[in-house]
Amino acid sequence: MKTEILPTNSSAELTHAVARAVEILTAGEPVALPTETVYGLAADALRADAAVKIFEAKQRPFFDPLIVHLPDVGWLDRITRTDSPTVAKLIEKFWPGPLTLVLPRRDIVPDLVTSGLGTVAVRMSAHPVFQSVVSAFGKPLAAPSANPFGRISPTTAQHVQDGLDGRIQLIVDGGPCAVGIESTIVAVEGEGMRILRAGPISAEDLAPFGEVHFQKAGATPEAPGQLKSHYAPRTPLRLLAPGIHFRAYSDGAKRIGSLAFDAPSKPGAFVCEEILSSTSDLREAAATLFAKLRRLDDAGLDLIIAEPVPEHGLGIAIMDRLRKAAADRAD
Ligand code: TXA
Ligand code: MG
Repeated sequence: MKTEILPTNSSAELTHAVARAVEILTAGEPVALPTETVYGLAADALRADAAVKIFEAKQRPFFDPLIVHLPDVGWLDRITRTDSPTVAKLIEKFWPGPLTLVLPRRDIVPDLVTSGLGTVAVRMSAHPVFQSVVSAFGKPLAAPSANPFGRISPTTAQHVQDGLDGRIQLIVDGGPCAVGIESTIVAVEGEGMRILRAGPISAEDLAPFGEVHFQKAGATPEAPGQLKSHYAPRTPLRLLAPGIHFRAYSDGAKRIGSLAFDAPSKPGAFVCEEILSSTSDLREAAATLFAKLRRLDDAGLDLIIAEPVPEHGLGIAIMDRLRKAAADRAD
């Protein structure tokens, strides 16, 4: 299969890309689309025969459910069952945007999409290109990140092509993703909220809307995005403990690359080095994290050393991804 990449720089290009995407989606095939977080691999969420192709293209296990992206808030009631005032307030504040809500589902959603769970994960993307496609399609789109299962999420069309070339028909290029890490996933429980996956909307952002808990470490993961081996580069990655001096790290026997937070390491210490944000800006760090990890992963290194980032706000989500990238992997 040849993978086509369509730009969206002019309005004529956008119109053409949207029409082509809708045509392929209507045929029950998946299409890679930009969102504000990461690129998604989208297919008709209400057709199991379409959604199954997402699992095939990504080689994603069927126990890992998909996020359903709504064309508009009106679809919430058709997909989920909720009358929670907390949900209404969260949607009012954060949609469209990088917040995914896990809610009791209706039967219209195929079991395949929810992996047989009684809940469904829903969000509305704020990306104008994604919004154009899902509005023109007129139905919800199931879309996990557009990467082979377990690998680093894509934040450019090129990343999608690197992972899925020949396995999908179309990548719509909407430029680099502004946010750069996957949405925050929240289960709303009564008056409270449980964060299943840390993301761009932080616990502090959620706190005004009710009591916030993090999914307990070691609990059975409800969001398999919490599996330790997610977001993995092929190169082993070591995350330094806070306080271990990054710039002093050395191991002469190996080709080592470094992922620094805000300051360069000592000259010559590493074969190559990426700095997440020279101005110590966590937003910039999140937006560039996956692209920089990929560059290091492609540099033929024996080891990547990553420096921790400050663990507040967006830094919690960044550290979550770095810890998962550093976890020992079976594959
Ligand atoms: O930002 C994002 O959320 C991106 C863009 C494309 O929207 N999508 C994304 O999808 O990160 P994915 O499949 O890579 O991660 C979705 C996570 C998975 O870990 C999945 O287990 C969890 O959402 N999830 C889906 N449905 C769930 C449910 N009913 N209960 C708990 N977790 C669920
Ligand atoms: Mg993913």
